[in-house]
Amino acid sequence: MKSFGNDPPYRQVASIDEVFERQHDGPAAGQSDGRIFEFGAFSEGKVSLVGAGPGDPELLTLKAHRLIREADAIVYDYLVRPAIFKAARPNAERIFVGKKGGGFCCPQRDIEGTLIRLAREGKKVVRLKGGDPFIFGRGGEEAEALAAAGIPFEIVPGVTSALAAAAYAGVPLTHREHASAVVFLTGHEDPNKPDAAIHWEDYGCLGATLCVYMGMKNLETITRRLQAGGLPPETPAAVIQSATTNEHRQLVSTVDRIALESEHAGFGAPAIVVIGAVAALSGKLAWFESAVATGAGELASRPSL
Ligand SMILES: C[S@@+](CC[C@H](N)C(=O)[O-])C[C@H]1O[C@@H](n2cnc3c(N)ncnc32)[C@H](O)[C@@H]1O
Repeated sequence: MKSFGNDPPYRQVASIDEVFERQHDGPAAGQSDGRIFEFGAFSEGKVSLVGAGPGDPELLTLKAHRLIREADAIVYDYLVRPAIFKAARPNAERIFVGKKGGGFCCPQRDIEGTLIRLAREGKKVVRLKGGDPFIFGRGGEEAEALAAAGIPFEIVPGVTSALAAAAYAGVPLTHREHASAVVFLTGHEDPNKPDAAIHWEDYGCLGATLCVYMGMKNLETITRRLQAGGLPPETPAAVIQSATTNEHRQLVSTVDRIALESEHAGFGAPAIVVIGAVAALSGKLAWFESAVATGAGELASRPSL
């Protein structure tokens, strides 16, 4: 057993490696032999896995706002906008753990280790994630690591980007006349991988609104395979980039043209693709894009993003 000296509550009863093995590889994954959990009794720290929403700071929940205000340490990734930190204490520790594309990205195991370490130092830790922590945010893995280490934690939902992008683009994801189901999918995975988790053809005949996260790189393949599964080529489709922020852009087309048109128009991540009859309603319900273009209305008075 390792120790941080003789001062309780910092008595470590399992290393980060041991916790990780327990969670991912170990024979007793997810179970306690009493040793790891013993530590929790000595720790006063806690980790809050908090959804920061899609970008507009006014879409933060009241609970998220309070936790950010009270945090000793904030561990955040690239989709968290700087304006979100306005509520934080000036001396709160800020730890950046990830950037998009080929930039710096802290390995998941190190992020989990950092959360455990900070909590064991007795800190109130906010793990801040774009959107909602449990929607394509690895919040589940982090919660599992905390549970395995006996660290008290809570999950604070956030407005996930598909909901926010659709709302700000004027696309009602369900509509009595057009769609009675919604599916959230990740387009991140290479759709041509033989063991890919998503069989896109299956979603071509669902009749549901499809919301694709991280789908820009593979959009051509995704839309082609949806059509191969029976989705009519003239089905409306929208791409909404940097939704709710000052860089918000949107494009509405059809499923057979959206990949090409969005590429020509220079759309890229972060973007949500909404596919289904409801996307066409943006034509009459879009309300935010013009406010961004003119800097008017609601945008003029809100905190800068
Ligand atoms: C790793 S996932 C994180 C999703 C996040 N947990 C959520 O609930 O929205 C990152 C993807 O979320 C989407 N995304 C996040 N913020 C967005 C925004 N402001 N506008 C459009 N899409 C966004 C994009 O598809 C982006 O590639």
